[in-house]
Amino acid sequence: MSEIKPFKIRDIEINPPLVLSPMAGVTDISFRRLLKQRGGVGLTVSEFISVEGLTRSNPKSKRQMRFYENERPFAVQIFGGQHERMRLAAEMAEEVGADILDVNCGCPAPKVVKHGGGSGLLRDLPRLETILKEIKKAITIPLTIKIRAGYSDSTINAIETAKLAEACGVEHIALHGRTKEQGYRGLANWDLVREIKKTVSVPVSGSGDITTIQQALERFREIGCDGVLIGRGAMANPWIFRQIEETIHGREPFQPTLEDKRAVLLEYFEMLREDMPEMSAIGRMKQLAGQFTRGLQGGALFRTAIYHSHSVEEILDRISEYFETISAGRHYFGEGKPSEVIEVPMLDSCEVASASL
Ligand SMILES: Cc1cc2nc3c(=O)[nH]c(=O)nc-3n(C[C@H](O)[C@H](O)[C@H](O)COP(=O)(O)O)c2cc1C
Repeated sequence: MSEIKPFKIRDIEINPPLVLSPMAGVTDISFRRLLKQRGGVGLTVSEFISVEGLTRSNPKSKRQMRFYENERPFAVQIFGGQHERMRLAAEMAEEVGADILDVNCGCPAPKVVKHGGGSGLLRDLPRLETILKEIKKAITIPLTIKIRAGYSDSTINAIETAKLAEACGVEHIALHGRTKEQGYRGLANWDLVREIKKTVSVPVSGSGDITTIQQALERFREIGCDGVLIGRGAMANPWIFRQIEETIHGREPFQPTLEDKRAVLLEYFEMLREDMPEMSAIGRMKQLAGQFTRGLQGGALFRTAIYHSHSVEEILDRISEYFETISAGRHYFGEGKPSEVIEVPMLDSCEVASASL
């Protein structure tokens, strides 16, 4: 599998070529640390950060730029539609020591798009051009972008956008092959990733729907992309990066035990509690548990039990009960009857996170 190799964004090596995809409300400093410790992550990216917030000294936005030294290489992703603010925010990211500055051209949230940011930039390429040129003048770290296929099915312009970005000095392009209007429906179009790779000479990575080792390897082989991004798949399986890396190197991929899974949930909860108010930590825990327990025996009932928990103690009790039961080979029936199972909805992209902007 020699074709899967590290790539460089200018002189920054992305090794392995696996990126933890930015997810608002998820990939904060705790989640990234959790994932980085599992291994195999070549690049981490912050949640998208509002340039309005950053340039108006909103404490939340500033907190979102925090990272651990051993997380490097680390990219800060910003979003907005005003070039002055984008430039200032990019300077701030460079000042805090980010290795890479990434511009979000994909968020579909109406609040973001209305102000010209996120996927709004895909239908206003002159605005995007101004923003990229302004940022480029102001920073010395590499500038990258993450785009969607286009605004709508009838205006797919990822290739045009990629060309423009390269001409503006962008040094890595990541494509999530769905349109803004598509949201998260259907499947990501990876053929577009291949087309962009053929068109530009900067490195190109693809994003969308990778949840297994095999899918990741197939993307590299069939698409010829330099890197792949994994988002939701990393919530379901925080070891996925390590497993892909091991497979690339011809090693047996690590198989987490139930004890490893229990430990990772507890570790994450502890990190969250150190970093944020209790209720926020509980909310994030519910979100991760919703993805993390897919496919486990009694997973749906466990998700339901976690969903109905309202305190730290309750969450910890539910985790202990669940793992003790299934580790002993017994069936987990949760607190209620199987008919009471509820599915915890995944936050709709940056919609929820942007609600508080
Ligand atoms: C909850 C959530 C939040 C997201 N937030 C961001 C974001 O802040 N910036 C961004 O570029 N993409 C964001 N995305 C898109 C992901 O980075 C990724 O491109 C998309 O989910 C497809 O990849 P996946 O199937 O591996 O999750 C988000 C996706 C989800 C599910």
